[in-house]
Amino acid sequence: MVNDTAHGYHEGCGRLEWDRPPESAYSQVEHTIIVHYLDKYLPPKGLVLDAGGGNGRYTIELAERGYQVVLLDRSAAQLAIAKEEVARLPKVVRDNILDIVQGSIEDLSEFESGHFDAVVCIRGALSRLIERDAREKAAEELARVARPVGPVFATVLSFYGALRKVLSEYPEDMHLLPEFFESRQKPTSTAYRDCFFFTPEEMVDLLARKGIEVVEYVGVQGLSAHLKDVTDECSRTPERWAVWKEVLLKTCNHPSVVGVSDHILVIGFA
Ligand SMILES: C[S@@+](CC[C@H](N)C(=O)[O-])C[C@H]1O[C@@H](n2cnc3c(N)ncnc32)[C@H](O)[C@@H]1O
Repeated sequence: MVNDTAHGYHEGCGRLEWDRPPESAYSQVEHTIIVHYLDKYLPPKGLVLDAGGGNGRYTIELAERGYQVVLLDRSAAQLAIAKEEVARLPKVVRDNILDIVQGSIEDLSEFESGHFDAVVCIRGALSRLIERDAREKAAEELARVARPVGPVFATVLSFYGALRKVLSEYPEDMHLLPEFFESRQKPTSTAYRDCFFFTPEEMVDLLARKGIEVVEYVGVQGLSAHLKDVTDECSRTPERWAVWKEVLLKTCNHPSVVGVSDHILVIGFA
């Protein structure tokens, strides 16, 4: 049974995250936008830390692009899946994955300062730390292990996006919202247990205080956020979909779009 704490979820969800069906255009929006920004800011080659990299989806994607990658996650279960998937890769890609280690982003002391040419922390590990001190420590560690002027990419769960999600998906939890403004945790009784939800400004501020020069922030569901059905419908007409994807990429970094997304990606340089 899936445990309902964030850590328990990833320990218990097994292959759910890896096997998530790719047929939904809506779910591809996040991936398309994240990859767009990785391509924009990653150096042409180098050693990347995939922190909170879970089942290794982005580790593998980066290794396929020729980067050397270290995957770190706190979930033994997700790392076991990553190891299975990595074992299936062609040797030339597999050899780019230098290590798969269990650990927490709060303590990266096994890596020297400036060890990585880039650090990615994608899809929310920072939001899974509900104690303020833990988030502070993790941001500090992510900044520390990136080489000077190396890019750092981090996504977190969005506070404003979560408010809209309650309206659209969990209206029965509306009564929890006044408390959510205070706690920033558990906006619903049915999802996202033990997570912290950020405003864009808070996330930018967290990284900036750790010496990361933030260059861009992005809503990774963009203007499609919470419009799953119409996004999927649009994707069935290729000409319209091509135009909409351009619109998403053109607008996802506008301040009026960033906060309402479910996840916020912040990019900066250490
Ligand atoms: C939604 S998954 C995303 C995995 C991967 N980055 C991706 O985009 O497919 C979030 C991951 O963060 C990991 N995580 C949560 N808290 C963490 C921590 N303190 N240190 C390292 N990993 C953590 C979880 O175990 C889980 O694998």
